[in-house]
This record gives sequence, C-alpha cells and structure tokens, in this order.
Amino acid sequence: MFHLTTERPEDGPAIETLLDRAFGTDRHAKISYRYRSDVPPVRQLSRVARADADGRILGTIRYWRVAIGGHDALLLGPVAAEPALKGRGIGVALIRDTLDAAAWMNAARVVLVGDIGYYKRFGFAPAAPMGIHMPGENPDRLLAVALARNAFAGVSGAVERRRLLRANRLKAA
Ligand SMILES: CC(C)(COP(=O)(O)OP(=O)(O)OC[C@H]1O[C@@H](n2cnc3c(N)ncnc32)[C@H](O)[C@@H]1OP(=O)(O)O)[C@@H](O)C(=O)NCCC(=O)NCCS
Repeated sequence: MFHLTTERPEDGPAIETLLDRAFGTDRHAKISYRYRSDVPPVRQLSRVARADADGRILGTIRYWRVAIGGHDALLLGPVAAEPALKGRGIGVALIRDTLDAAAWMNAARVVLVGDIGYYKRFGFAPAAPMGIHMPGENPDRLLAVALARNAFAGVSGAVERRRLLRANRLKAA
C-alpha cells in the first residue's frame, strides 16, 4: 500500500498540508516548534510514506538537532499519517525506519513530545525521571530513547536549541 523514501524538496507543500490536517493549522504555536524555526530538519532522517499506486504522500517524519546539557540529541517530530489511513502501520514504519537510520548515523539519543502509550513500543520512556525537561512543555509528554549504550549517563537538563554550526553561520553571513 505504501513505501518509504527520503523527503524531496518538491514534497514540501504536500507535507505541510498533511501536517495541517493531522495537527491543525495552529500547530506552529506548540512548544516543540520553537526548536524547528529557522533551522533545517536533519535531511537524511526526513522521510515520507508514499502510496504505491500514485506516489501521493501518506505520511511524514522529520528530526531536528537539539542539545541536552551540552550533549547532542535529536528531536523527533512531527510525525503524521494520512488521517483516513490511521492504524495501517504508516506511523510505526516511519518511526522504526528512521530510528534505525539515526542509530546508523551514530546518533545516541532521541527525545520527542508525545503519548507514552504510542511511543513505548519503540523504547521511549518518560524523560523527566532522567532529569530532562523542555521549558514550557508538559513534563509527562517529554519522552526519550537511547540509541547507544549509556547514552543518557550524565546527560540531564533542558532541551535546548542547537546553535548553527560555525560553518553554516559563515555560509549564511
Ligand atoms: C500518531 C500517528 C502518527 C500514528 O500513525 P498511524 O499510522 O495511525 O499508526 P500505526 O498504524 O503505525 O500504529 C497504530 C497503533 O498505534 C496506536 N496508537 C495510535 N495513536 C496512539 C496514541 N496516541 N496513544 C496510544 N496508541 C496509539 C493504535 O491504537 C494502534 O495500536 P495497535 O498497533 O496496538 O493496533 C497518527 O495517528 C497521526 O498522524 N496522528 C495525528 C498526529 C499525531 O498525533 N502525531 C504524533 C505526535 S505525538
């Protein structure tokens, strides 16, 4: 019914429409969007689910580079599936595929804002007991998963925006 591919630049408008339908057009006011403004998502982990029949976009997932107490981390989201096709495995496929890819890229830790009932199947657990918080966000909804052994040892504090790398700053100047 669907297959996964890397997101292409021309997918942008269809992804925005899908996200508006999945989360509402006020989604940009969410706390997690503070980490997404003015910075690009991680290109290799921006993937979509496409309909086998016509290539239409049925699902989307993106990740963002953040820091926790000075340690690199990834912020997963938004992830969304076509509302009419909920429960067909699109969300699970996108999340499993990209967490595997993130581990291959040597990412050590991932956080997200979401329901533990859905994300525990991927190994996510509440981040608050680890001493990790997202300012302004409901602590019960901040979840974390380790992609490497002891990835959270000595890692605590606020989830922070990552500053642009020096090379990118120079390029943008
Ligand atoms: C959440 C979402 C991405 C899941 O994608 P999906 O393709 O519908 O889900 P899947 O088919 O992969 O998985 C379905 C399973 O997840 C469960 N599930 C879905 N949402 C859930 C939730 N909020 N809490 C607990 N379980 C949930 C279903 O009950 C089903 O369980 P089962 O496998 O035991 O039958 C999709 O429903 C969506 O786009 N929702 C709106 C946007 C959103 O909330 N995104 C997540 C942000 S935290």
